[in-house]
Amino acid sequence: MRTLIKHALLSAHPQNSITVKGWVRTRRDSKEFSFIELNDGSCLANLQCIADVGIPGYQDIQKMSTGAAIGITGKLIESQGKGQTWEIQATTLELIGEAPSDFPLQKKGHTPEFLRSISHLRPRANLYGAVFRMRSRLANAVHRFFQERDFTLVHTPIITSSDCEGAGEMFRVTTQENASKQDDDFFGKNTYLTVSGQLEGEAFATALSNIYTFGPTFRAENSHTTRHASEFWMIEPEMAFCDLEGDMNLAEEFVKYLVQDVLENNEGDLDIFYKFVDKDLRQRLKFVAERPFQRVSYTEAVEILIASGEQFEYPVEWGVNLQSEHERYLTEKHFKCPTTVYNYPKSVKPFYMRTNDDGKTVTAMDLLVPGIGEIIGGAQREERLEVLEANMKEHGLSKEDYWWYLDLRKYGSCPHAGFGLGFERMLMFVTGMKNIRDVIPFARTPGHCEF
Ligand code: 4AD
Ligand code: MG
Repeated sequence: MRTLIKHALLSAHPQNSITVKGWVRTRRDSKEFSFIELNDGSCLANLQCIADVGIPGYQDIQKMSTGAAIGITGKLIESQGKGQTWEIQATTLELIGEAPSDFPLQKKGHTPEFLRSISHLRPRANLYGAVFRMRSRLANAVHRFFQERDFTLVHTPIITSSDCEGAGEMFRVTTQENASKQDDDFFGKNTYLTVSGQLEGEAFATALSNIYTFGPTFRAENSHTTRHASEFWMIEPEMAFCDLEGDMNLAEEFVKYLVQDVLENNEGDLDIFYKFVDKDLRQRLKFVAERPFQRVSYTEAVEILIASGEQFEYPVEWGVNLQSEHERYLTEKHFKCPTTVYNYPKSVKPFYMRTNDDGKTVTAMDLLVPGIGEIIGGAQREERLEVLEANMKEHGLSKEDYWWYLDLRKYGSCPHAGFGLGFERMLMFVTGMKNIRDVIPFARTPGHCEF
């Protein structure tokens, strides 16, 4: 029976014989014994092992170099070393898979760029092991948040024929055979990878009341920034009989819940971010979990930005979309906390948002956080059939293509609202990692699809 290192380190008492398996981080030899630090990815910490010269398997010790896969059987004893609870006194060693000296992850600092070029080995680096364990736990917290509140998980399709955001940033789907042809007739129409599960989510919310999606989404936008990826994961709740305010409340509660959960359930892994990524991270996360967020209308936000006297690269006036520099000014310099901006100009937002009585703004909301900018985008949806049809016309969308979406307004239409949280941006926020490429296992960005 193999014991995970995480469990060995949490053991309540010494153990006579356990077996652990993992990858060698470091090894030091002396005349009488070797000292091995082993990691199996179950936690950040290594298990330290002392192997006396001559025990079974010791003949392979020179091949148990950094990166090699080995098994160790021995006694779990109290550790003398500081900061460690338990160590293992080996009775047998087993070489499972060698790692020749060209193993790229030798024990020294590596740049994030270099590590991206070896994304297949990157999770073996301590920092990335921690990132991806946190990613898994954060996904679990997402499900817990919604399941505790009786939201139903809906698996929306990945291949779609509608452009939810209307930004024309879709990847076309075709068969290998059809790729070179002008017309693709596999589905009998052009199809794309989804940019959002929202429209299909609305269909389910207007049947099951509160739903959420959690899946991959795709954007063919040629953005070369640290917060845009061509493939990313999004969580999209949608609520029937809900307005903009209920939507903003849920978004804020959700972000706080996730941050609180990270603080409670990732202690071991958070240490590495506090130490090597952002020394103020713990303080910032506590602050976010405990204090209220700010809320301002777009119009107020624009007034604040104009009054700031800052020299922005993109000048601000009423009607422009907020850029990342503006979002960051609001959250980092002005309010110094997460901020929800609502009621954006109609002209900068997609067709499905509800038009306000002023005729110029829509019930949109973006939740912005320090260090990143937008992590959530959402809205109350236009539930009035005629207004929706007029909006679609303005956006150049045909009624025929969206007939099923219009049916949702024709039959039992009701106020409803929802939002999308970018999972990677949330992960950047809670780890302090500065580049979206470093929180997704195999990043896809323009020009990059190596793995
Ligand atoms: O603001 P967006 O485009 O909103 C929607 O897609 C809505 N349909 C959501 C909804 O109301 N159900 O995207 C939502 C979030 C953004 O706030 C951002 O966090 C993330 O998705 N996002 C990206 N993350 C990484 N790379 C990209 N290229 C992203 N584009 C959006
Ligand atoms: Mg947005």
